[in-house]
Amino acid sequence: MRTEQPQTIRLTDYRQPDYLIDETHLTFELFEDHALVHSRLLMRVNGGQGALPPLVLHGQELTLQSLAFDEQPLAVGDYQVDAHSLTVQPLTKSFELVITTRIEPQNNTALEGLYKSGGMFCTQCEAEGFRKITYYLDRPDVMSRFTTTVMADRGAYPVLLSNGNLIASGEHEGGRHWATWEDPFPKPAYLFALVAGDLYRIDDSFTTMSGREVELRIYVEPENREQCAHAMDSLKRAMRWDEQMYGREYDLDIFMVVAVNDFNMGAMENKGLNIFNSSCVLAHPNTATDMAFQRVESVVAHEYFHNWSGNRVTCRDWFQLSLKEGFTVFRDSEFSADMNSRTVKRIEDVSFLRANQFAEDAGPMAHPVRPESYMEISNFYTLTIYEKGAEVVRMLHTLLGAEGFRKGSDLYFERHDGQAVTCDDFICAMEDTNGVDLTQFKRWYSQAGTPQLEIEGHYDAATSSFHLHCRQSCPPTPGQTQKLPFVIPLRMALLDANGQELPLYLAGQTQSLGTETVLAVTEAEQVFVFEQVSAAPLPSLLRGFSAPVKLAYPYSRDDRVFLAQHVDQRLLKVYRGVLADSSLDPAMVAEILRLPSEAYLIELAQQADVEAIHKVREWVRRELASALADSFRAVFQRLEEAGGSYSASAEAMARRSLRNTVLGYLMLTDSSDTLLACVRQFVEADNMTDRQAALIALVQSPHEQEKQAALEEFAQRWSAYPLVMDQWFSIQASNPLPGGLERVQALMTHPAFNIRNPNKVRALIGAFANHNLVNFHRTDGAGYRFLADRIIELNQLNPQIASRMLTPLTHWRRFDTQRQALMKTELARIMACEALSDDVYEVVSKSLN
Ligand code: PHE
Ligand code: ZN
Repeated sequence: MRTEQPQTIRLTDYRQPDYLIDETHLTFELFEDHALVHSRLLMRVNGGQGALPPLVLHGQELTLQSLAFDEQPLAVGDYQVDAHSLTVQPLTKSFELVITTRIEPQNNTALEGLYKSGGMFCTQCEAEGFRKITYYLDRPDVMSRFTTTVMADRGAYPVLLSNGNLIASGEHEGGRHWATWEDPFPKPAYLFALVAGDLYRIDDSFTTMSGREVELRIYVEPENREQCAHAMDSLKRAMRWDEQMYGREYDLDIFMVVAVNDFNMGAMENKGLNIFNSSCVLAHPNTATDMAFQRVESVVAHEYFHNWSGNRVTCRDWFQLSLKEGFTVFRDSEFSADMNSRTVKRIEDVSFLRANQFAEDAGPMAHPVRPESYMEISNFYTLTIYEKGAEVVRMLHTLLGAEGFRKGSDLYFERHDGQAVTCDDFICAMEDTNGVDLTQFKRWYSQAGTPQLEIEGHYDAATSSFHLHCRQSCPPTPGQTQKLPFVIPLRMALLDANGQELPLYLAGQTQSLGTETVLAVTEAEQVFVFEQVSAAPLPSLLRGFSAPVKLAYPYSRDDRVFLAQHVDQRLLKVYRGVLADSSLDPAMVAEILRLPSEAYLIELAQQADVEAIHKVREWVRRELASALADSFRAVFQRLEEAGGSYSASAEAMARRSLRNTVLGYLMLTDSSDTLLACVRQFVEADNMTDRQAALIALVQSPHEQEKQAALEEFAQRWSAYPLVMDQWFSIQASNPLPGGLERVQALMTHPAFNIRNPNKVRALIGAFANHNLVNFHRTDGAGYRFLADRIIELNQLNPQIASRMLTPLTHWRRFDTQRQALMKTELARIMACEALSDDVYEVVSKSLN
C-alpha cells in the first residue's frame, strides 16, 4: 500500500497565477532513445507590488539538463527540484528563462506528454501532460504564444508538425531536418501538440463565410489513406454548420488532423493540430460499421467545435472542464441531429445517459458538473462532465429558446475571446443577454446526483381544471447530504381521449400556451393548474427528455398503452406487425424494437439481480422473436430487396439498422433458413455493418461450427486492420454465453492483442466488464479477480486507462451481499498494491469509503 496520499486540489483554493508567460519558444531534438526539449520562456510577474514571489514551475518525470535566467546559467544551489516542481526566485519583474530537459518518449507507456505510437512521435497534453515535456506553468489560465521547432531524422520522420503555421524549415547534417511552426493565438499548454512521423497527407480546402481559404489536411499512416474521406467530409460539414448555427468561423489558414493508433481518449482539440485516436478518423465501408461512421462524424465535429468552445475561450481551471466539454458535446449532438435523424440521435443519447451517467451519479465517484475537489484531474473526464454537462446546456437552450440561447452564446464568445473563464461567466452571458436570473439554475453545476421528479395529476370536473402536482428531490451524494431544489424544465402536453393535444391555459393566464409548453419546476413541491380542460386528460411529460431527471408518474397500465398509441403513433403499429409499414423511418423502428440494455435495467434496480435481468430480457427477446417471426421475416425480405448495393446515405444506414436488428431476433427462432441467411450475409456482405451484425448473431448462437468458422475467417481476413480486430475482440468479449471469462482469458494471448494499446484494452477487457454482465458477475468472483489483475498490470503501464477500467467495480453497492463482498475484496487487493498511481488510488479509495 502506498504510504503517501495524493494531494486534494480544491476549487476554493484557486488563486491567480503569480507569473505569466508571454512567449514560449520550444525546440525539440528527437532521437530514438531520448528527446531534448529546449525551452525559452519570456515571463513576467502577474500584477502585484512588493516582493517577487518564488516561481514554481510544474514538471514531472523530467531530467533537468540546464537552466538559465536572463542568460545567466544557474548553479545547483540556485533552484530546487522535486518530483513535481522546479522552484526559482526571480529578481526582476520580467525575465527570460531558458531550460533544457531530457525525456524518453520511447518509454512513455502512459501516453501522456510526448510519446511514440508505432513509428511516430506525438503528444497528449490535456489535462496536465505538458509538465512531462518541460518545466512550465501548466495551468489553463496561463496562455502564451508558442513557436515550436522540431528536429528529427529525415528518413524516419519526414513530416514534422506543430500548432499554427509553418514559418521555416531546413536540413541538418547527418540526414536530419527541422521545421518551425508558429501559433499566433495565445493558448494554454494543454493545447500544445507536436507530431513527427512518416505520414500520408490527404488535402482538401474550405472557404469560410468571409471568403478565406483554409487548407485542410488529414495525416495518417500510408496504409490508411483510403479511409479518410468520411472524416474530411464531416469536417467540412462541421465547419459550415458552426458558421451557420453559431456564426463561428475558423481562424487559422490551416487545419490539421493526425490519426494515431495509441491514444487514451477519442481525440484532442490541440489548436490547429487535432490528434485523433485512429478509431475516430478512419472509416471505410469495408472496415467500419455505420456506428463507426457516425462516431467519426461526431468526434471530428466535436474537436473542430472546440476551436471556439475551448480554445478561443478556454477554462480558467480544471474545475471548469464542463464549460468547454458540456457545451461542445451539446454542439456536436445538435450537429449530428441535423445531419441524421434527430429523434434517433436523441433516443441514443438519452439511453446512454440513463444507463451510464445515472449510474455514475449514484455511485461513489458522483460529482457535480463543476466538481469541488479532485486528486487526479484525469479521473474527471467523466460522463457527468461531458454528457450531463451537455444536458445542462441543453436545458438552458430549452428555457431561453433557440434565439435567446444564440444571443447568449454570441455575447459569451465576444466577451471572453482570448480568455480563460468559468462556468459562471458562461451563465452570466446568458443572463445578461436574456435579462433573466439563473442563480437557482446554477445548482445544476454545484449539486451532484440525479434529481427525482414525482408527478401526479388530478382532474376536477367541477372546475374543468387539471392539477399537476410536482415534487422534486435529489438523493445524497458523497459530501452533499442536503440538496436544494433545481430548476427543472418540464416540456409537456395534455392529451384528450383521442390522443389530440389540448390547448393549454395555465390558471390566471388568458393567453393559451399553445399545445405544448415548458414548465419550470423550481420548488420542492409545486402545483400547476390548467383550466378549460373539458375532460380528464392524460399528461405527456418530460418530452424530448427535457431535463436529466428520473420521472415517476403513476400511469396506469391502460394509460401506458394509450400513451404508446398516442405519444408515438409508430410504436403500436410496429408491434402489431406493421413492421410491414415501409413508410416508417427504419432507424426509428429499430430503436423501438431494441430492448433497454442490461446496464440500464441494473441502474433502475435498487439491488440488481444480474442473472434475473439477463434471463428475463433474453426471454422477452425470444418471445418477441417467436410472436413476430412472420413480420420479422417479411421485413428482412423486404429490406433485402430494397437494399441493392452499399450506400452510406442515412436512408441506407437506417435500413441496415432495422434489417440487422430483425436478423438478431430471427436468429433466436431456431430456424435453419435463418441460419443459412445469416451465414450468407456474413460471407457475401459488401460492408462491415452487415458482416459484423451477422457475426454477432452467429457468435451468440448455439451453432458452434458456423460460429468458429466465421470467427476464424474474419480474423484471417482482417488481421492487418487493427480497428477491425478490435471489433473481433469486442464481439467475443461481449458474448453472454457461458464460459465468457475463459474465452476472454484465451484471447489475451492472441497475437493481435496488446495491453499497451488502449483500444485493445477497451475492446477486450472493457467490453467484457461493461457489456458481458452475466459472465463478469460470476458468483465465484473470477470475473472481478480477472479485472483487478488487469488493473494492477495497467496501473504500472497506463494509469489513466487502469483507472477507467475500474468503473464496473466501483458500482458494487448495486449488487447482492455476496457479490458486494467479492467486489470489495478485489478493490482492497488493488488498494494494497505498492506504487499505486494517483489515478487508481483516488477511485479505489473513494469506492471503498
Ligand atoms: N478534450 C478532449 C475532448 O473531449 C478529450 C481528451 C481529454 C483527450 C484528455 C485527451 C486527454 O475533446
Ligand atoms: Zn471535448
